[in-house]
Amino acid sequence: MIKRVGVLTSGGDAPGMNAAIRAVVLTAAAYNVDVTGFHHGFNGLFEDDYQTLLPQHVQNIIQHGGTILKSARCKALQTTEGAKQAAQVLDRLQLDALIIIGGDGSFRGALAIAEYYQGQIIGVPGTIDNDVDGTDYTIGFATAIDTALDAIDKIRDTADAFERIFLVELMGRHSGYITLSAGIAGGAEQIICPEFGALRPDNLKALIEPVKRAQLLRGKSSYIIVVAENSYPGGTTALAEALSEALGIECRACILGHIQRGGSPVGADRILATKLGAYAVEQLMQGAHLVMAGEINQQAVLYPLSETGAKQKQIDPYLVRWQQTIASD
Ligand code: F6P
Repeated sequence: MIKRVGVLTSGGDAPGMNAAIRAVVLTAAAYNVDVTGFHHGFNGLFEDDYQTLLPQHVQNIIQHGGTILKSARCKALQTTEGAKQAAQVLDRLQLDALIIIGGDGSFRGALAIAEYYQGQIIGVPGTIDNDVDGTDYTIGFATAIDTALDAIDKIRDTADAFERIFLVELMGRHSGYITLSAGIAGGAEQIICPEFGALRPDNLKALIEPVKRAQLLRGKSSYIIVVAENSYPGGTTALAEALSEALGIECRACILGHIQRGGSPVGADRILATKLGAYAVEQLMQGAHLVMAGEINQQAVLYPLSETGAKQKQIDPYLVRWQQTIASD
């Protein structure tokens, strides 16, 4: 019987985390379950930094980016001693379960705690990267795409006015989800992401040739290349320099960065966050443990927490093939 649950947001914050916290608190209140919210991710456990969360605390937060609980990565949890200590805190606070809203790195931390914790553990996928297996989409991804898209559209205006080549770097750690989606939606001429194969200074032909062909066909005109972070040694600025040198034309790099993590969550993220936050509480009450609450084909599903980061989640193979076809044409 679940009487008290803990909740925290961990890792890179994502728009919609507040909506998920709200859903957890409102659902728990409906079932007379108390909620303790830990601050700054798992660090809140080590620092006794937590608060009781009541429905009034989650009023008017659904529309806000960031997270009212704050987020962080937690070094202390990387040791066995840390995991034991965290479990002791949960037991001392008599929490029957812990809900972790975060990505697969945060879920690894949760699994470490589970080795020593008597209660139940459930994950809710919250990261802009959409690199978590067991759910079609993670909370924050849809908003990040729109933010990136807005930026790409604006860069295209100035690129068009100056007839310039721009390389726009998007986030995703080691996943091309944001880059492929925003690149397709933004009509990028080229998309560079880890799933397309590694780029090195000595194999830039596949990048350079299509730009040259476009220049021959269209003359001087704007050209947008979206690049996933970590795609090239030295980053996208170094890639822009290499391209400038190869083409003899100045190419500009624009690193979008953390702007992609902010902003008011779009409707799709608010709905997903509400559904998964509520589902997590209800499933805990049914005994769920060591699973993540995800959504596949619009169905709420449970997925083993240990498998959420086991393999690289595939980006849309159809769009990958199409993009490669038009780029090499
Ligand atoms: O996981 C979310 C994310 O924004 C990644 O896309 C990015 O690689 C990373 O976090 C950046 O982390 P930090 O905020 O620590 O620089």
